[in-house]
Amino acid sequence: MTFRQLPPDLVATLRETVSLGVITGAGVSAESGIQTYRGQGGLYDDEAEGDRTVEALSAPTLAADPDRTWGVVAHLARQTIQAKPNPAHQALVAMEATLERFILLTQNVDGLHRLAGTRNMIDIHGDVLETRCSSCAFHGDLSVEDLQALTGTPRCPQCACGLRPHVVLFGEMLPEAKIRRLHEEFYERPPEVVLIAGTSAIFPYIAEPVLLAAQAGHPTIEVNPEPTPLSDRVRWSLRGKAGEIFPQIAAALASRA
Ligand code: APR
Repeated sequence: MTFRQLPPDLVATLRETVSLGVITGAGVSAESGIQTYRGQGGLYDDEAEGDRTVEALSAPTLAADPDRTWGVVAHLARQTIQAKPNPAHQALVAMEATLERFILLTQNVDGLHRLAGTRNMIDIHGDVLETRCSSCAFHGDLSVEDLQALTGTPRCPQCACGLRPHVVLFGEMLPEAKIRRLHEEFYERPPEVVLIAGTSAIFPYIAEPVLLAAQAGHPTIEVNPEPTPLSDRVRWSLRGKAGEIFPQIAAALASRA
């Protein structure tokens, strides 16, 4: 894999990089066939249903009408369970193997980074193929068979109460332990270089580590076919797909003198 399409000054920076923080969103899984949320063809893009989909994925709806929340969660889970890691996920595994320090913060709930082999990661929004019970300690996984048979809300095999998806819904707090890890990795000991890709960067806890790095004069890189609110705040805003650009970044990191 060459890195000829990367800006030469970026290649020079990558060849001296020993610690990297990466932040990913749904766009990194788009090349695995999983819908993004916003923008053309996104889950919320539907004129009629867009806002209702966001409402369905909220804590109040899970409490009042769990079947409605599970209707959208099952749709996401069925896309996810068929999906495989793409070259973007694989390139991140290569980056982690090359560097002295690597941390990945992902918003994605598809589990593809873990499936590809990324180890040091924070999956801040959870995993759509995991379930947990709000009444007992049950925590389980959704299988292909479960999803094929699933209509409405799955029941807890231990206490028969309705299960909930092991993801952060709109209106819910982020898991404290994961927020603590985010602070340790991106604030207390910030990585030397921060790379953000495949996200519209609407959440402050996602944009802030990039802005902090940029304000501290650290190299910051964005990979996205479209501009985002971060595009004019990062040092390199690369217009393109993560599946095409990440392998080049991995190759440049590995070419370190
Ligand atoms: N490579 C890189 N970026 C891509 C690609 C690709 N192949 N395809 C699309 N994108 C970009 C889009 O341009 C867009 O900026 O990915 C981004 C996807 O944005 P969203 O759909 O908003 O997804 P994300 O930013 O991950 O959403 C954040 O919002 O709905 C909640 O919890 C949900 O985790 C999600 C969060």
